Amino acid sequence: IEAQLNDGPLKGRRILVTSGPTYEPIDPVRYIANRSSGAQGAAIASALAALGAEVVFITGPADVPPPRGVEVVPVETALQMQEAVDAALPADAGVFAAAVADWRVTTASDRKLKKSKDGLPLLEFAENPDILKTVSHMASGRPKLVVGFAAETNDVIDNATAKRLRKGCDWIVANDVSPGTGIMGGGENAVTLISDAGEEEWPRMAKDQVAKKLAARIAEALT
Ligand code: CTP
Ligand code: CA
Repeated sequence: IEAQLNDGPLKGRRILVTSGPTYEPIDPVRYIANRSSGAQGAAIASALAALGAEVVFITGPADVPPPRGVEVVPVETALQMQEAVDAALPADAGVFAAAVADWRVTTASDRKLKKSKDGLPLLEFAENPDILKTVSHMASGRPKLVVGFAAETNDVIDNATAKRLRKGCDWIVANDVSPGTGIMGGGENAVTLISDAGEEEWPRMAKDQVAKKLAARIAEALT
């Protein structure tokens, strides 16, 4: 099986994948997070590895186990994810599937906040670095292919198209995560792949299938 894996179309290609949520601490026992399960990112890492890629899988605390056959770099915060991405470069491609927290708490305490003594906590926030945007704009050593995600609840295609241009990534995978769709936390995804070449709407399918289709596209783009 190993021999087969190594002989895939992505043999010799190094690809980094970010995945899962990030946790931003409030104090040692509390954090701010989001509902990302990490399922789509894990499936993508797995599909890329199955095509022979050397995958660095940088993941926040996710619900799903990391795939086998990839280098797993567990992180918690957005700042740690940024550092891990820097350390994993250079790479031929980057897939940024993580739901990175937009803000971190600057007033995080190293002691557990107490109810009676401290009154209501006053949290101050700072914006986290935009990892996708930073990598997309690298002056030298930029991955040949940079793929971002846009999970939107409204005006999905317009928002994702604007996001692709703002971030400077090559492709953006757009999906509608509004509550009615059952996408967030579910086993399926319905995405539109947006690139310079235009928009391509994929039918709703299992997250594993989305991952395989995307991995095949990445293999085409890198060869
Ligand atoms: N992303 C990132 N670093 C961040 C925020 C987002 O790398 N600090 C990446 C995500 O992994 C995803 C893409 O950027 O691939 C889009 O994330 P999204 O949260 O939709 O974009 P934002 O610019 O944060 O916009 P919004 O205000 O809609 O959250
Ligand atoms: Ca965001």
